[in-house]
Order: sequence, then C-alpha cells, then structure tokens
Amino acid sequence: MSGKRLASEIKARVKRHVENLSLMGIDVGLALMQVGGTASDEQYLKTTVSVSKTVGIKTYEYRLPETASLNEILNIINQINGDERINGLLVLFPIPRRINPRRVVNAIAPEKDVDGLGSISVGMFAAEESMFQIFDKDDLTYDDGKNSTVANMACAPHGFLPCTPFGVIRLLEHYGVEIKGKNAVVIGKSLAVGKPLALMLLAKEATVTICHKSSDDLAAHLKNAGIVCAATGVAGLIKGDMIKNGAVIVDIGINIKPDGSFVGDVDFESVSPKAAFITPVPGGVGPVTIATLLENTLRSAQNRVLLKTPLILS
Ligand SMILES: NC(=O)c1ccc[n+]([C@@H]2O[C@H](COP(=O)([O-])OP(=O)(O)OC[C@H]3O[C@@H](n4cnc5c(N)ncnc54)[C@H](OP(=O)(O)O)[C@@H]3O)[C@@H](O)[C@H]2O)c1
Repeated sequence: MSGKRLASEIKARVKRHVENLSLMGIDVGLALMQVGGTASDEQYLKTTVSVSKTVGIKTYEYRLPETASLNEILNIINQINGDERINGLLVLFPIPRRINPRRVVNAIAPEKDVDGLGSISVGMFAAEESMFQIFDKDDLTYDDGKNSTVANMACAPHGFLPCTPFGVIRLLEHYGVEIKGKNAVVIGKSLAVGKPLALMLLAKEATVTICHKSSDDLAAHLKNAGIVCAATGVAGLIKGDMIKNGAVIVDIGINIKPDGSFVGDVDFESVSPKAAFITPVPGGVGPVTIATLLENTLRSAQNRVLLKTPLILS
C-alpha cells in the first residue's frame, strides 16, 4: 500500500482550495515548531515545508534551541495563536524531557491544533464530535458545492483528527480494506498515534486490541489479527512468523539505520510474503500524514472564513 497516490490526490484537492482562498485575498499558513530536535526532525521539517509549498500553503518555521524554556515556548505559541497569517501549528515531538509536552500542546489554540493533540481536540475526538470524516468518506472530498462539508465545518469548527492515525484509516480505505468486523491489533499506545488509531478503528467497527511494552505475548495477540498496525519505533519488531496469512500490515514506525536509510517496525522481508497488503517505509503512511496535515490546515483556514464572514454562504 503505497501512500504516494492517495497523498497526491489529497494535495491536488488542497491546492485547488488554497487557490480559491487566495482569490479572496486569503493566504493559508502553517507554523512548524522544533525544540532542539534530531536529524530526522530536521528531515521531516524540510519535507513538510517543501510539500506545503507545492500546494501553496505558506510555512513559518520556529526553530528553538534545546535549552529553550517552557515560558519561551509558550510565549511563541501565544504569538502564533494570535497571528492571522497562521492557520495551524505543528510541534515536532519529542521535545526535551524537562518540558511537559501537555503544557505545550494545550497552549495551542484549538482552532489551530491541526494535529489534534490538545486536550480539547482529544476530548472532542474521543466523544466522536470531530470524527465525522471517519463515518462518512464523502465528507473528505471538500468538493465545491457539497453541503455536507459546510454543515460539518459548522458543527465541528475546531476538532481536528491526529494526522498519522487518520492517514492510516484513509490508506486502508483507499485500498479497499474492509475494517468492519476485523480483528485489528495496534502496537503502541501513544497519544499521537497508537491510542487515536485504536479509537478510529473502533469507530470503523473493528475489534481492537492495543499492545504495548508491557504486553506479555505480542505474538499471541497477532496470531488472529486481520489488520496489524505497528507504531513503536522498534525496527523489525514484527516478524513473518508472528502474523497470519492474508493479514493487512500497516507499518507506521520510522527508524533510522546507521547508514542514514529508513526502516519501519515490520521486518518487510519476512512479513510481505504472508501479507495481503503491507505499507512500505518510506513511502507508505508518511506521505499521507503530511497531506492530511495540509488538509487540516486548509480546513482551519476555511473554518475561519466561514466563522468570521458568514455572508460567504449566500
Ligand atoms: N509515518 C508517520 O507519518 C509517522 C508519524 C508519527 C510517528 N511515526 C513513527 O511511529 C513510531 C511511533 O511513534 P510514537 O510517537 O507513537 O512513539 P512513542 O510515543 O515512543 O510510542 C511508542 C509506543 O510503542 C510501544 N512500544 C515500544 N516498544 C515496544 C515493544 N517492544 N513492544 C510493544 N510495544 C512497544 C510503547 O509502549 P509503552 O507505552 O508501554 O512505552 C509506546 O506505546 C515512531 O517510529 C515514529 O517515528 C511515524
């Protein structure tokens, strides 16, 4: 399951709508914040900036040193919250351990929380108030003249779904994978990936198991899984002898090898012969994540237009 085609489709749509907003004199802007950070953060930031450019979204980079204090970070987020040019803010995690990440994400204005990690976004998501895209695929299209999009924007003005797990759901649907009724195992329970992905699969009526470091027999859980989603950051954790024939494998992990190349959490060589579908790393979930981030940023800009200039509906 390559993510490139789906990502291209999403980006083409975003570009069209960014151009429409531009005709109204409105630019769409995305802020990216990095505190300290690794070579892979740097790579992710560069890629996001260049992809944003291709769809006409302006980017604003905030690169803070490893030594930045919580107060400094919050101060900058407050500036971003009030910056009319910026519709969304993505903070690259992990940030230095001495900084409480919840203080950081909760400082982001909910209407600019385009990766859906703040408590308001998470709460709306868990209560299924921002999950409308999960239930109705058509709402994703943003096609001109579609009442459903306007209605949904009006009822959930700032509930954004976390980009990576939502990207996984979209990728599965793009490839026609039936989720309803399947046994799905998610490995990893982070707030950014594993936990929201499990909730999304549940919303699609899969029977969901979440595994983590303390799960005592990972292979036993995987034995009957029709869908396996790995998001651990442990290279090669999932081996061919752990999965059943015909399973659908989504590899979300990104691990950098000493030679600088990327591998996932799944041992592609032993798993792919048994899998019905498998995502590559790179080129699987990653491109869809970025496209979804840009789409959320567009949606934030559209929401703002809708809420601030209601006459646009006429
Ligand atoms: N493709 C993309 O677009 C994309 C986007 C975001 C992240 N990622 C990648 O996805 C991976 C996970 O990201 P994250 O932010 O969720 O990481 P994280 O916050 O470090 O969480 C990792 C999760 O994996 C679990 N885990 C670690 N080792 C395990 C093991 N041996 N067996 C079972 N579970 C294990 C941890 O369990 P505990 O909770 O028990 O510690 C934790 O829940 C990383 O490689 C990251 O780079 C990719």
